[in-house]
Amino acid sequence: MTDTLNTGTGLGAPASEIVAELTLEEKASLTSGASFWTTQGIERAGIPAIVLTDGPHGVRLQKGSADHLGIGDSVPATCFPPAVALGSTFDPELLERVGTALGEEARAEGVGVLLGPGITIKRSPLCGRNFEYLSEDPIVSGVLGSALVRGLQSQGVGGSLKHFAANNQEHDRMSSSSDVDPRPLREIYLRGFQRVVEDAQPWTVMCSYNRLNGVYTSEDPWLLNTVLRDEWGFDGLVVSDWGAVNDRVVGLPAGLDLEMPSSDGRSAAALVAAVGDGSLDESALDVGARRVVELVQKAVAGARSSTGSVDAAYDVDAHHALAREAAGRGAVLLKNDDAILPLDAATSVAVIGAFAEKPRYQGAGSSLINPTKLDNALDAITEYAGADHVSYAAGFTIDGSDGTELVGPAVELAASKDVVVLFLGLPGSYESEGFDRDDLHLPAEQLALLEAVVAANPRTVVVLANGGVVELPFAGDVPAILEGWLGGQAGGSAIADVLYGAVNPSGRLAETIPVKLSDTPAYLNFGGDFGHVRYGEGLFVGYRWYDARDAEVRYPFGHGLSYTTFGYSELSVAADASGLTVRLTVTNTGDRAGREVVQVYTGLAASGVQRAPREIKAFANVALEAGESRQVEIAVRNEDLAYWDIRVDRWVVEPGAYSVEVGASSRDIRLSAVVEVEGEKVRLPLSLESSIAELAADPIAGPIVMQAMGSFASGMADTDIFDEGGLEKMMASFPIGKLAGFPGVPVTPEQIQQLIDLSNSQQA
Ligand code: BGC
Repeated sequence: MTDTLNTGTGLGAPASEIVAELTLEEKASLTSGASFWTTQGIERAGIPAIVLTDGPHGVRLQKGSADHLGIGDSVPATCFPPAVALGSTFDPELLERVGTALGEEARAEGVGVLLGPGITIKRSPLCGRNFEYLSEDPIVSGVLGSALVRGLQSQGVGGSLKHFAANNQEHDRMSSSSDVDPRPLREIYLRGFQRVVEDAQPWTVMCSYNRLNGVYTSEDPWLLNTVLRDEWGFDGLVVSDWGAVNDRVVGLPAGLDLEMPSSDGRSAAALVAAVGDGSLDESALDVGARRVVELVQKAVAGARSSTGSVDAAYDVDAHHALAREAAGRGAVLLKNDDAILPLDAATSVAVIGAFAEKPRYQGAGSSLINPTKLDNALDAITEYAGADHVSYAAGFTIDGSDGTELVGPAVELAASKDVVVLFLGLPGSYESEGFDRDDLHLPAEQLALLEAVVAANPRTVVVLANGGVVELPFAGDVPAILEGWLGGQAGGSAIADVLYGAVNPSGRLAETIPVKLSDTPAYLNFGGDFGHVRYGEGLFVGYRWYDARDAEVRYPFGHGLSYTTFGYSELSVAADASGLTVRLTVTNTGDRAGREVVQVYTGLAASGVQRAPREIKAFANVALEAGESRQVEIAVRNEDLAYWDIRVDRWVVEPGAYSVEVGASSRDIRLSAVVEVEGEKVRLPLSLESSIAELAADPIAGPIVMQAMGSFASGMADTDIFDEGGLEKMMASFPIGKLAGFPGVPVTPEQIQQLIDLSNSQQA
């Protein structure tokens, strides 16, 4: 592919001029791939082919047989931690470095677009592909996704933001309709995409397989044109997920520029025929082809940039070290009673659990990377503590085959050492692209082993490897739990870094760990029936749900411990038109350097619309030496305070007294303040459907209505209910149009219409 990129010599002219010289057939051919991973080149016009490949946490470039399910071989590349671990870093600076490294590798391999990041919301922990997604929160996903795109594209390699949109489960993913109401759609499921599009301008967006409210996203003009381009200003290219095209002739004018992979000329022929019979306007092909040429231009320019050559190698060791740093930073210390961690190198340790030796470090499917190296925790622990202090027993089999004879030696070993480090996790077959999980359990044999090991040695530290959250019924029985997620190729050594304190843990949960599956927000609405999945939990996704219901969780969103402690003080909040400026002092009150993730949540208890009690709006990742204090300033954007107003179909910042809560998790709020936000009062024209309460609140009609109500009330029976505003309450929702002509009401329909007209004309 190196050659194809270098031959892009005829690309100097504006894309529209290049396209104007092409035949109808050539334009049509550009809008579908030429092969599994390449676009169509047109030699006579000097348009080369470019390569798009997975993604998201490594370069999966296939030189032999091609597939999008992680089956065939691919070139070696750094397997960075999957998004589940990257999300837990809450660190855009680090993610930008990871993105940059991904870009270097992609460019070195002649790849024009790397298919990621995935910023789909983790709606349910059951989704088989949650390991590829960053968070249950759109601002967290958006901020971190932007950082990845910025890094990647700084190397002249395009990102592909996926999967657009509402692709929150794998079950029936190629046909199921995600039926989502406008507010959750905008505020939860689209908000992260909007953020990345506006902040980082990804070169491409990948439409998903599923339907959204009944319409395939690959042919949804509202989603791909109105929202993505007209509202958000996206000027890149929309590519289909691999095989997501339903009807190419419908999809092209709807905004789907490039179909991938190749359809062997079938789509191009259908497009040409549709132009011929008048069912497709040729201008749609001009647009689609132009966007493909623009993408090729960017990729060619990117390939030549900085090094002047597409053959620039990358530093394999440096990238491995970065993968290790990122995995260590993504690990979340859930529990650490009596400071059992970090371990002292002189402590005798029983390392138990097959994952210590054979790490589970990435998920299955299209993101499967052929790593350049692979660390395991057992070797890395031995390096820290020396062979004399470390002994190992597998304890169980990863593939679920009979491991009964492994239990006895593991328990015996546990009893003979100071501390046990027990590696548990989900076998690869439990979670993957293409299917969802049925439950959140760890394998029964692992739980049984844990029980026996803890009975033999209560000083047992559990280390977890899993791409989606698991239930932790044993959380009360062990002194420490380190959630290592899927840590990428250096995940094993990163775990040892944390266990021995070379890395002070700073990972935070970007998703809630529930007590049990049936507590989760989408529990009654996941999977769906007959091709429809109803997003019945609405806005209440993730911590929004648990907090609104005041429900118990195992570990809350944002939670994660450190080997040091942090104090919060001196909060001040100022509001202006651009948003909120939150200032506070954070102090490292312990005796070692560490990082705190300071989280800013807002709420509006007196809101006129349904809201979660708190929503994260911004965060800061603060590194502090032992004893160091620093003033931290965190900006909350005004637009992030907005809700989607279904009456006017746009974002509105409601005026009012907002709570600003600053803390170390959604359940560990350290400081709070209230700030008055000016916002915008949405005034809808009054109509006969307006309620009495709405008229009463109207500056023109209000006084007149209240006076009429007063005289109406004075003729009422003398009961308590009419004291203290009882009548207003009873009548508040009464439509004004229905009032006229009601027996005993002294107003005519004409008078009411006059009142409405008067108010509307004076406030137009
Ligand atoms: C996945 C995408 C991936 C594509 C190409 C699809 O199955 O959903 O995320 O980029 O394949 O491998």
